[in-house]
Amino acid sequence: MKLLQNKVAIVTGGSSGIGRATALLFAREGARVVVADMNDSAGQTVVDEIRHAGGEAFFRHVDVRSDEDCAALVEVTLGHYGQLDVAFNNAGIGGKKHRWRTRHWRSGATCWM
Ligand SMILES: NC(=O)c1ccc[n+]([C@@H]2O[C@H](COP(=O)([O-])OP(=O)(O)OC[C@H]3O[C@@H](n4cnc5c(N)ncnc54)[C@H](O)[C@@H]3O)[C@@H](O)[C@H]2O)c1
Repeated sequence: MKLLQNKVAIVTGGSSGIGRATALLFAREGARVVVADMNDSAGQTVVDEIRHAGGEAFFRHVDVRSDEDCAALVEVTLGHYGQLDVAFNNAGIGGKKHRWRTRHWRSGATCWM
């Protein structure tokens, strides 16, 4: 059995670098992956790679600095897959101005990274 079989994962910053590699790995391990990023075309390419390899994924545009975008990301994921098990909050934001707010991420997921 694969490590993430029957799991649903969000990967922010999933269009490139660490996020892209993580999205591909999670999909190989059986997760249904929501690739979330500001870069739509690169994110769709990651989704295409996952699907080409037999996995399941979709892309969602998100700017993680936006509370509304983050809330919508979770809502869309739950609406599409009915569950959320893993959130790899990889897209980085820095400084006091963009201090992370957690209120939108309390949705019962079992693993926050
Ligand atoms: N690469 C490293 O050695 C390293 C080391 C320590 C920490 N990090 C952190 O890990 C994270 C990923 O690093 P990486 O090297 O893969 O970076 P990267 O630049 O290759 O990828 C970052 C991705 O995040 C997306 N992104 C940027 N701002 C966003 C936003 N506001 N909302 C949504 N998506 C956004 C970009 O479009 C891009 O696809 C970053 O937060 C980085 O600071 C990286």
